[in-house]
Amino acid sequence: MTPTPVPVLQVQDLRLTLPGTARPVLDGVDLTVGAGETVALVGESGSGKSLTSRTALGLLPPGAIASGTVRVEGEDTLTMSAARLRALRTGDVAMVFQDPRAALNPLRRIGDFLTEGLRAAGTKQEAATARAVELLDAVGLDASALGKYPSQVSGGMLQRVMIAAALMGDPSLLLADEPTTALDVVSQAEVIALLTKLRERFGTGLLFVTHDLDLAAAISDRVYVMYAGRIAETAPAETLFAGPRHPYTAALLASTPRPTAQGGRLAAIAGQPPDLRTTIEGCAFAERCPLATGLCRERAPEPLPDPARPGHLAACHHTDRLVAEGTPADA
Ligand SMILES: Nc1ncnc2c1ncn2[C@@H]1O[C@H](COP(=O)(O)OP(=O)(O)O)[C@@H](O)[C@H]1O
Ligand code: SF4
Ligand SMILES: [Mg+2]
Repeated sequence: MTPTPVPVLQVQDLRLTLPGTARPVLDGVDLTVGAGETVALVGESGSGKSLTSRTALGLLPPGAIASGTVRVEGEDTLTMSAARLRALRTGDVAMVFQDPRAALNPLRRIGDFLTEGLRAAGTKQEAATARAVELLDAVGLDASALGKYPSQVSGGMLQRVMIAAALMGDPSLLLADEPTTALDVVSQAEVIALLTKLRERFGTGLLFVTHDLDLAAAISDRVYVMYAGRIAETAPAETLFAGPRHPYTAALLASTPRPTAQGGRLAAIAGQPPDLRTTIEGCAFAERCPLATGLCRERAPEPLPDPARPGHLAACHHTDRLVAEGTPADA
């Protein structure tokens, strides 16, 4: 039997508590990204997606208290030394953020930005520049970008530069946090196509964070749906979109705009996610869920597998009713 490879990212029972809150902002998160796998982390704004992905780089907000484990290639970032974390951030793990302009120093040329990590690690300028040119080429840009300032290129091009920068250290894990949200539709599609191509070429594991379920469907092998700091449902992408087993996923799918759906955007989910200043007794989605019962308000549902569908877990007491009665939006 061949041994199972170590996942590039393995988050287990991650709890994160921030100062001044009544409950953990991340509450028992389990998530893995396999080598070369593309995994989407989806949920409404404020659900804890960015906090989850940033723990892979050991980037915790000030005063945060974390428990559980966050392993990158088997090493726990929650207990790692500062020196090891720095090395990790210029090597095994890289991150692409929503707004490339905010992440770049406007007074530095793109070439200096691309090569600084390798230079700091002792690589000679010539070799670092050669690598930068190779990666610019991989993201569809030519070497002339090296001499330009961020203000001289478009947002879409700048996000390509950020992706090239992220790949400079040949990472095994790339964290992309809403990388296309700030871009126009054409650049968005280009960046998605590019990430897919690069995954195939470099074999990088990708955690793609987004609030857009359609985007997640387009890019990922597997999906995690997050709600109020908990994983509500996870499954292979095709399985999840064909048959959600959690009312929140079903509601998200019903509220996602689809070109084929008459009238465009369907009803958004009524209500708001629970405030961090309140505690939650049972299911975090109970206040907004059309299937909620007394049991839901008393006891938090555990993620349970579907024996018929490998890798499909849903944390809901009434999955069977959802499957039998259709999506809440149908009700
Ligand atoms: N540095 C921080 N200090 C205090 N609260 C924070 C901080 N970062 C995030 N939060 C809160 O934690 C929750 C989850 O945030 P985040 O992970 O950014 O959500 P998402 O990326 O899903 O939109 C939000 O309610 C947010 O306001
Ligand atoms: S556990 Fe209850 S409240 Fe929560 S999603 Fe399932 S049916 Fe809705
Ligand atoms: Mg975010």
